Amino acid sequence: MTRTSRAAEEAAAELRSRTGVDTYDVALVMGSGWAPAADLLGDSEHELPVAELPGFLRPAVEGHSGILRSISTGERHLLAFLGRNHLYEGHGTDPVVHGVRTAVAAGARTVVLTNAAGGINPAYTVGSPVLIADHINMTARSPLSGPSFVDLTDVYSAQLRKIARTVEPDLAEGVYAAMPGPQYETPAEIRMLRAVGADLVGMSTVLEAIAAREAGAQVLGMSLVTNIAAGLADANLDHEEVLEAGRESAAVVGRLLADIVAKI
Ligand code: HPA
Repeated sequence: MTRTSRAAEEAAAELRSRTGVDTYDVALVMGSGWAPAADLLGDSEHELPVAELPGFLRPAVEGHSGILRSISTGERHLLAFLGRNHLYEGHGTDPVVHGVRTAVAAGARTVVLTNAAGGINPAYTVGSPVLIADHINMTARSPLSGPSFVDLTDVYSAQLRKIARTVEPDLAEGVYAAMPGPQYETPAEIRMLRAVGADLVGMSTVLEAIAAREAGAQVLGMSLVTNIAAGLADANLDHEEVLEAGRESAAVVGRLLADIVAKI
């Protein structure tokens, strides 16, 4: 067992003893703007600050509460992380992916990763949800070390995306580019990302998706377009605008997410 998987097993054991839930079915990471969506997923049975479990840091970003919620839908147990840790917090990749690894160690075979993103594809409007079809990892980092040659051909499960489209047939799909942040991109960087095939840009998700695939879980990724990417609209970017767009869209994207999760 690797050092990181041992840390996840320890956190999962503590989680089980705190919630009384032996096996989770689905884990969700609620990114900026997505936390209110967790209220629509089912009955909240336990909540705890994630930092009370071994190996977790408190998320440092406004809009990321650091609460872990154990949810029952009647038939299934869901685990929702209300917020996440980002690479730009400066603690390396382990804390970024510890939640996903812990959730998989606690039984979750499906991991749903949500985020706020800048829209690069001109078809996207602020407030739209977009399924992540694939990613481009521009962080130059990996959560894996050693010869862990994980296949990323189907990193965002085609099967899960198909299920999502049975709920919302017109749901857009796109390629998510992850930048290291915390600064937003320059217009030139956005032109570069567009040229290499990115539709969305953000600062999260890809490392968690890689760790989830290594651990053997299926991944569904969804972005909420909170702004048009730098230089593509006549506006500057600020984090408050990102949060505000999330608040405005919370009910609609929350309902969509809850309906999708009910089917996976
Ligand atoms: N760039 C990077 N990350 C983001 C953006 C963006 O435009 N919007 C929300 N998260």
